[in-house]
Amino acid sequence: MLHNFGSINLDHVYRVPHLVHPGETLASRAYQVGLGGKGANQSLAMALAGGRVSHWGRLGRQDAWARDRLADAGVDVTHVELVDEPSGHAIIQVDDHGENAIILFPGANHGFAPSQLVNLVASAKPGEWLLAQNECNALPELFAIARDRGLNIAFNPAPMTDDGARLPLDTCQLLFVNRVEAAGLVGLPESSDAQALLEGLQQRLPDTETVLTLGGAGAWYQSGGTQIYQPALPVKPVDTTGAGDTFIGYFMAARQEGTTVAGCLELAAHAAALCVQQSGAAESIPRRAGVDQALSQFHAPSSS
Ligand code: RIB
Repeated sequence: MLHNFGSINLDHVYRVPHLVHPGETLASRAYQVGLGGKGANQSLAMALAGGRVSHWGRLGRQDAWARDRLADAGVDVTHVELVDEPSGHAIIQVDDHGENAIILFPGANHGFAPSQLVNLVASAKPGEWLLAQNECNALPELFAIARDRGLNIAFNPAPMTDDGARLPLDTCQLLFVNRVEAAGLVGLPESSDAQALLEGLQQRLPDTETVLTLGGAGAWYQSGGTQIYQPALPVKPVDTTGAGDTFIGYFMAARQEGTTVAGCLELAAHAAALCVQQSGAAESIPRRAGVDQALSQFHAPSSS
């Protein structure tokens, strides 16, 4: 079982011709509310991929439908607590190129108490994986308790913050970062090339496996002196929201199955490619059958 300490958000998604400029008032062309949050998206992706995942989260009582949505997909929601605080939510603009800009209200995601963390971690067995993102509070405390319990920590420092960069990341076995997060962690410009970012990560965290996701430029895995590159698939994005989360959930599910790192990257890249061709966060995460079909088409010999 993988345990995911993660945010659950209600995503308010606005389709706009361009991301709003400072001082501008812009009418949206479409609006929808759906399940989101990096944590919930990653749990959902892992469950849809066929993985065993327990979500640890907090949600406003009136939004129990979001917990039920995760449960219906196969996520163990025993440790999703319904609370009297408002749920976390996100205001998401998506432009005509599929790019997004997101404002977060953390809400209940920032209400974890230290005593609750002790109980949550006690429910996990030594040697199991703990996954976390940077949308919930109390991460330093969580990392310390999880390390003492002998859990393997996989961390996605998204969204990147100053506090996130100061976390004791050397307690993590596995790190998922995009370009912005990698640059923030190693103090390099975001325009740095992949090799510079990977070298910086190797210097800062020599004992941590790293997956660097670069959207349309593919993804890199690095561990010690080993590097593996996975190209992105040539697709036209409609909405990139949740693509990174889909990648991570599918990667961890494949890893749980005992798949090689190259196989994990390939499955995750195909899942993310399907995700960006749909609107929304949770709504756009593909099922395993569709991802397997995309993989087999990719590998099918050409008929000509
Ligand atoms: O990664 C996408 C997610 O980021 C959205 O679902 C939104 O809730 C924010 O957390």
